[in-house]
Amino acid sequence: MKDMLPTADIQNQIIDAFTFRHACKVFDPDAKIPEDQFATILEAARLSPSSFGMEPWQLLILDSPDKRELFRDFTWGANGAANGSEGQLRTASHFGIFLAHTGATMKYDAPYINTHLKEVKDLPEEVIAFYDTAYRKFQEQDFGLLTSEQIAEWSARQVYIALGNMMTSAALMGIDSCPIEGFELAPAQAVLQEHFGVDPAEYKPAVMVAFGYRAADPVHPKTRRPLDMIIRRV
Ligand SMILES: Cc1cc2nc3c(=O)[nH]c(=O)nc-3n(C[C@H](O)[C@H](O)[C@H](O)COP(=O)(O)O)c2cc1C
Repeated sequence: MKDMLPTADIQNQIIDAFTFRHACKVFDPDAKIPEDQFATILEAARLSPSSFGMEPWQLLILDSPDKRELFRDFTWGANGAANGSEGQLRTASHFGIFLAHTGATMKYDAPYINTHLKEVKDLPEEVIAFYDTAYRKFQEQDFGLLTSEQIAEWSARQVYIALGNMMTSAALMGIDSCPIEGFELAPAQAVLQEHFGVDPAEYKPAVMVAFGYRAADPVHPKTRRPLDMIIRRV
């Protein structure tokens, strides 16, 4: 396997994609991502890893412009208020909201866990029993995920893996993106409940994400700390 890897080309493609990706502020509103390419981006999310394989999130895609408008007032990180534009909300080809599962479904003794292990992961009873013990210890002792809120935060950490994979996959296809945490939680939860039936006891909006094609090149060049400031090898 190792000998088969054509590394140089792939290395270049990876670095090119990461260099190309930036937090796009305004997309070309007329440029739509072909659905088969968006399906690949969604598949990158679906195939992403998650702790214990619990897949503790859902992604709500706001296809309709009217639905996006519901979030406009309090989504300051994507409504263009910061730069006097229409923002990502109105210009993105595709726009989604990641919903992190809370303790209602992800606590070790929630019925959902057993259903997931049985029906999705297709595990035999003895492996499920092992999982149950290990998952309970993980939540109660190892990581101290004792409240529904703490479990939602753990779920959100799994969300960010899928989010990153989506944005990188998009960049590899020349598609721009922006992760968005710039929103007020309480009104977002209220809109999600009222218009989409998302119960805040079951799901917590973690992060939004926009995809499309940049309207213009980024104003600022990418800045990052040098490698020796972030990596310590011993
Ligand atoms: C979790 C997360 C949340 C972010 N929220 C917003 C946001 O609400 N609005 C926005 O325009 N950019 C947002 N950004 C973009 C960051 O500001 C940006 O990634 C960072 O400044 C680095 O720039 P670059 O992504 O262009 O390399 C967010 C980034 C991350 C990872």
